[in-house]
Order: sequence, then C-alpha cells, then structure tokens
Amino acid sequence: MEELTSSHILSLLLCSFLALSPIAFAAEVTDTLGKGQNVSDGETLVSAGGSYTLGFFSPGVAAKRYLGIWFTMSEDVVSWVANADRPLTDAFGVLVISGTGSLLLLDSSGQVVWSSNTTGTGFMTAQLLNSGNLVLSDGSGGAAMWQSFDHLSNTQLPGMKIGRNLWTGAEWRLTSWRSLNDPSPGNFHYTTNLEGVPQNVLLDGDKVIYRTGPWNGQWFSGVTEMATYSDMFAYQLTNTPSEVTYGYVAKPGAPLSHLLLTHDGVFRRLVWEPSSRAWKVFFQGPRDICDDYGKCGVFGMCNANAPSTSFCSCIKGFSPTSPVQWKMRGTSSGCRRNVMLDCGNGTSTTDGFVVMHGLKLPDTRNASADASITLEECSAKCLANCSCLGYAALDIRGGGVGTGCIIWKDDLMDLRYVDGGQTLYLRSAKSELAEVRYPAFPTGLIIGASIASLVMVLFALWLFAVVRRRRRESRISVDNAQGGANGAGADTRSNPALTVQSVRAVGLPTITEATGNFSEANIIGEGEYSVVYKVLFIPCTYQLTFVTD
Ligand SMILES: *[C@@H]1O[C@H](CO)[C@@H](O)[C@H](O)[C@H]1NC(C)=O
Ligand SMILES: *[C@@H]1O[C@H](CO)[C@@H](O)[C@H](O)[C@H]1NC(C)=O
Ligand SMILES: *[C@@H]1O[C@H](CO)[C@@H](O)[C@H](O)[C@H]1NC(C)=O
Ligand SMILES: *[C@@H]1O[C@H](CO)[C@@H](O)[C@H](O)[C@H]1NC(C)=O
Ligand SMILES: *[C@@H]1O[C@H](CO)[C@@H](O)[C@H](O)[C@H]1NC(C)=O
Repeated sequence: MEELTSSHILSLLLCSFLALSPIAFAAEVTDTLGKGQNVSDGETLVSAGGSYTLGFFSPGVAAKRYLGIWFTMSEDVVSWVANADRPLTDAFGVLVISGTGSLLLLDSSGQVVWSSNTTGTGFMTAQLLNSGNLVLSDGSGGAAMWQSFDHLSNTQLPGMKIGRNLWTGAEWRLTSWRSLNDPSPGNFHYTTNLEGVPQNVLLDGDKVIYRTGPWNGQWFSGVTEMATYSDMFAYQLTNTPSEVTYGYVAKPGAPLSHLLLTHDGVFRRLVWEPSSRAWKVFFQGPRDICDDYGKCGVFGMCNANAPSTSFCSCIKGFSPTSPVQWKMRGTSSGCRRNVMLDCGNGTSTTDGFVVMHGLKLPDTRNASADASITLEECSAKCLANCSCLGYAALDIRGGGVGTGCIIWKDDLMDLRYVDGGQTLYLRSAKSELAEVRYPAFPTGLIIGASIASLVMVLFALWLFAVVRRRRRESRISVDNAQGGANGAGADTRSNPALTVQSVRAVGLPTITEATGNFSEANIIGEGEYSVVYKVLFIPCTYQLTFVTD
C-alpha cells in the first residue's frame, strides 16, 4: 500500500482549499434574483455584506424543505420562513419571479406553494439586503412592492417593527414556531399592544401571559436591563395617530443581534459573540415567577426575592380577597382595600398617595396617558377624580421624578418589584399613607433608616463590649458625653489601636422611646430580616470608647 506522504497531504489540502475558496463560488454568489432567473434547492442568495443567506433548509426531518433566510454564520437561526405551514416534500423547490410580478415558491410539479401576492411589471427584482430584509421591487425606485420585514416569523431583526399600522390596520407580530423543528405557526405571539398606554405583550393564543410594562422614554418599565445595552442598540417606540410600533436599530459597530420568540413561549434578546461564535442571552422575558401575568392578582405585589411568602403580598392598605385561598398559594384572587377611599363631597378629599418605589408599573391596557402635564398636575388630576386609583410619570428621560402622566382607573394588575424600577403613586385613604420601598434595592438612603441601623449596630457593639469587659476585664471606658458635640471618629486615625472611638450610642430604653415602643405607626419599611422605624430624635446619653489590646 502506498504511504501517505507529506506532498500528498499538501495536495489534498490544496484541493479542499480550492473547493472551499470564495473564488470558486464567485460567479454564483449574488444577493439579487431577477425575472427569468431562479433559486433552486441547493442554491442561495447571500446579502452583500454576507450576514444573511436565503435558501432551502430542513430544520428537522430532512424530508421537509422550507425556503427561508438565516444568519450566514449561524445557520440554525432562521429569521424568516416563506412556506412555514406548507413544507416541500422533495429537494426540487424553486423560487422565481412570475411574469405577473409575484415572488413565487414552486414545488417540483410547478404548483405555487407560496406567493407574495403582488402584481407588477417592469424590471422586477428580489434583493436580499444586508439587514436581512428580502425586498421585491419593480425597478422604478419607488417603495418596495413586498418585503419580508412586513411578514414576521419568530424573529425581530434590527430595523423590523412590531405593533400596528393604524391607517392600514396591518399588524406586525412575532409568532412562535410550533416546535423546535416545525416552523408552522405556534400559539405564542409577541407584539406591541396599543390599548391604553402602549406596552409589549407576550400572548398565548389571545391571553396575555407576560408584559414588559409601559415605555418610559428610555426602556420598558419592567425591562430595566435595556439600559445596560443601550450603547449597542437604539430603541424606538412610535406612538402616533398613524402607528403604534416598537423596533430597534443597531448602533455602528454593534454585533449582530436578534429578538426571538421561542416555540415554548419565551422572548429573548440574543447578541452574537464572534470570539466564542455563540449567541449570548441579553434579556429573557418572562425572566422569573413574578413576570407571570397577574401572579399576585389585583393589588397584589410580587417580589421574586421573597419565596417565604410564595412571592406575593398585598400592597399597603390591602388584604387578601380570599385569605383561605391565599394561604393555599391561590394568590391570583388578589387583594382588596382595607379602608375605603374618601371621594370627598365634590369639593375636597382627604385621600393622599402611598409612594411605591422600584416597580414594573401595573398593566396599562386600561390606563390613560397625558404627556403634556407635569407629575404635580398629574397628582392633582388624580385626586380630582374619584375613579383615579393611582398615577405615575409617563417619561423619565429628564431625570428627577419624571414628566407626563399615566392614570389608572381600573384595579391595579400585575405589579412587581424590579431592580431600578419606577415609582407609582397609589391613591390611599388618609389612615394608610406612608412611603413604601422595595427592600432589596433601596435607591436612596432614608435618613430614618440609616439612623435606626446605626443605633442597632451601636447597640450590638455596646452589648459586645459589656460582655467582653465582664469576661476579660479589658479596658473599656464609658464617659459622659460632652454635650454630644464631638464628631464621630474625629481622632480615629491618630490611634490605630482604636477600632471605635468617640461615637454616640443609645440604650434600649432610648430606642423604645424613640420608636414609640416600636409602634406600627413609626414603621417606614420592612426588609426580609428587619423592620425599619422612623426615629426623629435620639438624645445623646453616652459616649463609648472601645479600646482593643
Ligand atoms: C431555473 O434556472 C435554471 C438555469 O437558469 C433553468 O435551467 C431551470 O429550468 C429553471 N427552473 C425553473 C423551474 O424555472
Ligand atoms: C397570498 O394569497 C393567498 C390566497 O389568498 C393566501 O392564502 C396567502 O396567505 C397570501 N400570501 C401572503 C404572503 O400574503
Ligand atoms: C364638603 O367638605 C368640606 C370639608 O370637609 C366642608 O367644608 C364643606 O362644607 C362640605 N360641603 C358640603 C356641600 O357638604
Ligand atoms: C380593562 O377593562 C375591561 C372592561 O372594563 C375589563 O374587563 C378588564 O378586566 C380591565 N383590565 C384590566 C387589566 O384592568
Ligand atoms: C373621572 O373619570 C371618569 C372615567 O374616566 C370620567 O368618565 C369622568 O368624566 C371623570 N370625572 C371628572 C370630574 O373628570
């Protein structure tokens, strides 16, 4: 037997190099199909920049052939399918432009399997643009006669829109594949909902199972992570009399990306990472149990960090509608108000607002918005109408408390805490007023809270010191405060032996007094492990100096 020499290997390599080299294919690679030409199974159109490829593929069973567009470097991600519910059964399909100006997919017997349903004359071409859009035009330079970006599959690419054209009534929405290997339409849809204040929704059939929350000028209220990749993508929510749509564009230099509605009803933003040649998940919705629509019912609050309460609690001033069901984790029945609102007698109301921070704003399908007023005017508008149950800023781009006005008049539905979430002003009876903050993500320090925690730390230190003194007879001096005027830790740096010096501490009786015997009226927040009290004034009783050996 002849031995394989290095020159053989070299020629083998050369042969395969030639077979794969772009030069060998140069004549065939094109992005445009003209009249009289065709794309048959095995041939492709490749966009000018090379990012997208159009051709025939089989996602699962090789016997089923589909015409589609996929990412050239990631063939398994198919952004558009022509004959999703009418697969070809052999490899003799062909894409042509008909004499009457339709883009047609024909099977081996010449039957039309799919049609763009257009009519036109002139110099008809179908071009695969480097955006992934397949555009049929008649060469007149006018608008596209047909484009794949208007016929969404399960993928939204930069430049595509979801939502509705209010003039033509045309709706753009993503539809899931039936299964991983079956591109025929599944049950899940993702689109921009235009009822009330626009928000994106994920539907199972016609039932909302997840929503992003309303657009706040920068991101969707419940998708705060959008801020973390806004350097790559520009988001566009359009809310005009002619259209309510959402789309995004890639900023210069941004990697390839797409939004995908999976066959099992998960919406993902995926970004291509060239070095590992893999798609990275930048966002996924629903992201956790609290994103399940209406998990805690009306006026219920979902906290993904609170498994001990099965994630649900009633918002301030509300109690479970059905305590028995609630105890059995039947939280979707929601909560009802403890103290009725005071509607006033036409001239005045004693109601106020509970301020709730860090939220995905409630469902806005029945809410109304006014972009032209300030948040203060929004507050007055809400108080003036008995049916107003709460309000929030519409636009937070300017920072501060935001501007514009969303008003809710129906039961507040689908509330949850999110990191970096928004503020909701909940109309409440006078006896229920207080400020509520999300325990895990305090956005600012509450003065009362910091004093209270300082008190607790010092109290613990004091206990520790007493125990130590009794046991080890260490030197601990307790001096009377000199009018409380000494700044905390003023001399600490001059003596490295001291860990704590010249700080004020208070005893339990003082804390008891300052918190009104731990009165509920003084609670300003509750964490998982602690209750935070409002402490207005703590008299300075002692100055403790702890000395370490
Ligand atoms: C497709 O094009 C090839 C080459 O131009 C031609 O031989 C073939 O008949 C065409 N097929 C159809 C169905 O038009
Ligand atoms: C073209 O028209 C046929 C028959 O009305 C319809 O079934 C098909 O969905 C249409 N195709 C497109 C791409 O709109
Ligand atoms: C409405 O209430 C205000 C304040 O509670 C009171 O001063 C006023 O007299 C009341 N008006 C009527 C018509 O009852
Ligand atoms: C919106 O209003 C309709 C009609 O009053 C009602 O059936 C529906 O439950 C409301 N939806 C929400 C989320 O409040
Ligand atoms: C209060 O809101 C309801 C429901 O939107 C509306 O019908 C009514 O006119 C409003 N009343 C006032 C005084 O603005």
